[in-house]
Amino acid sequence: MDREDLLVSRVDRRALMQGATAAAVAAILPSTPALAATPETRRRIKLAFDWKFALGHAADIDKDFGFGRDQRTYAKTGGSETSPIAEAAKAAFDDSAWTDVQIPHDWAIDLPYDSTPRILAPDQDDPRAAHGFHALGRDHPENSVGWYRRPLDIPADWAGRRIGLEFDGAFRQVVVFVNGIIVDEHAGGYSPFRIDITDVAQPGRPNWLTVRVDASLGEGWFYEGAGLYRHVWLTAANPVHVPPDGVFIRAEPQGSGARATVEAAVRNQSDSSRTATVRTVVVAPNGLEKARREVMLSLAPWRNENADLALAWDVAPLWSPADPQLHRLTTEIEIDGVVVDRIETPFGVRSAVFDAQRGFLLNGQPLKLLGACCHQDHAGVGAAIPDRLQDWRIEQLKAMGCNAYRASHNPAMPELMDACDRLGMLVIAETRRMSSDEESMTELATLVRRDRNRPSVIAWSIGNEEQAIQGNETGAAIARTMKRLVNRLDPSRPVTAAKDQDFDTGVSRVVDVLGFNYRTPQMEGYHARFPDQPILGSETGSTVSTRGEYVLDAARHIVPAYDREHPWWASTAEEWWTIAAERPYIAGGFIWTGFDYRGEPTPYSRWPSVGSYFGAMDSCGFPKDNYWYYRAWWRPEPLLHLFPHWNWEGREGEEIEVWVHSNLDRVELLVNGRSVGAKTVERNRHLAWSVPYAPGVLEARGYKNGHLVSTQRRETAGAPAALRLSVDRQRLTADGEDVAMIATSVVDARGRPCPRANDLVAFEVAGDARVIGVGNGDPVSHEPDRSDRRHLFNGLAQAIVQTGRKGGPITVTARADGLRPAVLRLDARNTKLST
Ligand code: GAL
Repeated sequence: MDREDLLVSRVDRRALMQGATAAAVAAILPSTPALAATPETRRRIKLAFDWKFALGHAADIDKDFGFGRDQRTYAKTGGSETSPIAEAAKAAFDDSAWTDVQIPHDWAIDLPYDSTPRILAPDQDDPRAAHGFHALGRDHPENSVGWYRRPLDIPADWAGRRIGLEFDGAFRQVVVFVNGIIVDEHAGGYSPFRIDITDVAQPGRPNWLTVRVDASLGEGWFYEGAGLYRHVWLTAANPVHVPPDGVFIRAEPQGSGARATVEAAVRNQSDSSRTATVRTVVVAPNGLEKARREVMLSLAPWRNENADLALAWDVAPLWSPADPQLHRLTTEIEIDGVVVDRIETPFGVRSAVFDAQRGFLLNGQPLKLLGACCHQDHAGVGAAIPDRLQDWRIEQLKAMGCNAYRASHNPAMPELMDACDRLGMLVIAETRRMSSDEESMTELATLVRRDRNRPSVIAWSIGNEEQAIQGNETGAAIARTMKRLVNRLDPSRPVTAAKDQDFDTGVSRVVDVLGFNYRTPQMEGYHARFPDQPILGSETGSTVSTRGEYVLDAARHIVPAYDREHPWWASTAEEWWTIAAERPYIAGGFIWTGFDYRGEPTPYSRWPSVGSYFGAMDSCGFPKDNYWYYRAWWRPEPLLHLFPHWNWEGREGEEIEVWVHSNLDRVELLVNGRSVGAKTVERNRHLAWSVPYAPGVLEARGYKNGHLVSTQRRETAGAPAALRLSVDRQRLTADGEDVAMIATSVVDARGRPCPRANDLVAFEVAGDARVIGVGNGDPVSHEPDRSDRRHLFNGLAQAIVQTGRKGGPITVTARADGLRPAVLRLDARNTKLST
């Protein structure tokens, strides 16, 4: 066995057995229909509710519920009555004083800020800025350990099945107890882990789950959250089943149809030999069966076997961002005429190729990657993003014109990846650590296995800006080891890495596709020197801006929203895109970033800034003006965007810089009905005028082929008079998890938006729902996320309202002193509940 064999099999070791070579494929059988009405033995139950939470302590054993007392943590399995591994892991532990929480849950957003003054050199960043100043980490042991408890309902008829827990990820350093016994420990904050708890589970009797999460150590230089911020699942399966991520389908277009190869792993976790039929069925996006194939496997006790199948079918609608057609593969295992396991794997038929001259090609056609890098963080909820919010964020990026997403710098939540498959978003999937140590390699393997069926994924990124190694032979050696592992697990996709220096050497010489972080002007020279290697902008642009602000105010940490300010290493939107757009060999680029996020408050990097300024959208997803630059040039629809606002009280007669982002031919600007000139639009560039301020109406008229096709106005608003509410969807699911994204704005007595309003808005919810978080996009705001009130910031605030499980009408009312309230009516309907 070489190194990768060992590492790959370590991933399987959690499943208690090693995979054997597939020597037992008996025969390819003629097609037979699946048996109807066979028992479904696989269960996967989301554990969203009924959790209790309390902070422990990273340095005080008594405050950490006795964990680690007397250095006896691993002395005896399950400890003993008098010496438990932790008080909180005991059945009888009284958790009634703990807080009720719902998973996903991020306790870091509730922590106070640590803004105690520190002496810093004038050009020195405050080290606390990177994670957003929350009082978390080694300096704050009292805030850095969290405990979760929950009963586990394991029905009596699960006896004889394999019972498991799946954690989609947790931040970080997790100890999992079932019935007081440690069943797993997991360090990495971003990768999923699965635990077989069959031996300790007690079907039909009370079971309890305890989880200790220690977020003392960070993995990133950005806000990372803390706790069970991803879903947790309870699973049950027949002893003979498809192991997690055990199906790998590679489908590609063939004429107007498709062909696919399927590797399906089957695991026999029983003492008897079995003969199983493995059946795979392809179902087209229209729901019709298109192909099926069966193989018989002989399964020795406690062994894995692999079935290899090939399928082909005619008429296969292709998957693309514009038309994300998803096929479905059903994999069934049948023993003695009974289907004992069945899983569904969505997949897409598409070809994706990087070409050194033509850039990226999807389904044979060049497609520029119009991408955004994003962290997993949203106003109001932090890292604990509800599933619907994942969809919503992808929808906002698509509306801006993005067709690609870089999951920087860690494996993304599965529901985000699902959204990308379903809504049509290409993805560069990235592992967290660029290292060939065992844990990093396991994390990489887990990522590839989890996401390799997804049509959205077009490349695996093995690292980002590893300054110490990216240009040298050590980096190249690590990259080679990582790449070998990826190639073995997924021979169909290229490996990439993002670099910010030493482009010619080290890691660059190993990866298939080289990512440039910024330095777009250097790409031309690199392409001339290395004409055979595809390249893309893995981080590009990076204008810093505050939404709705147009005058620099360093004292208040405000950056104007013209496309002008950027860190020294980065560029404006216009600077990078004018280079990339015109060069076919640049496969595209991923702006830094789609949304603002907590931490990294560049350019100030000091208190009171706690959030980043890089987003084309703010931390709530409200567009900044650069959003419209990209939307103009990344989407085909006619677009005209005029800024700034026209409320410059006290600056009458002063010159105001007026910009337009437009993809039309010509734009005329008028102030109070008088033209101040028309300008011709130059491709991928903005228009600008300097206009003396006079209250009234600023108007832009956009022409295409000589016809007026669009008009935009900015009107001087009077005093705020009334609140307004809008929502993404009025009909919600009463599953206790669905959310409505509610935007609050203010208008004057004549209905004109008030762009500077900063009123405090309180949200009231009647019906079976609650506000789970609020935000306003101000990177300097220190107001609580988990609240039912928020100040508007430059006229806008956001409330995230989550449904209960009963359903019925929901009324959301927004109130602010002296303003007419606004009312929004929603409706939540019951569907199947998760427990
Ligand atoms: C890059 C880095 C990103 C982010 C960005 C800020 O160097 O890869 O994660 O830190 O800089 O400009």
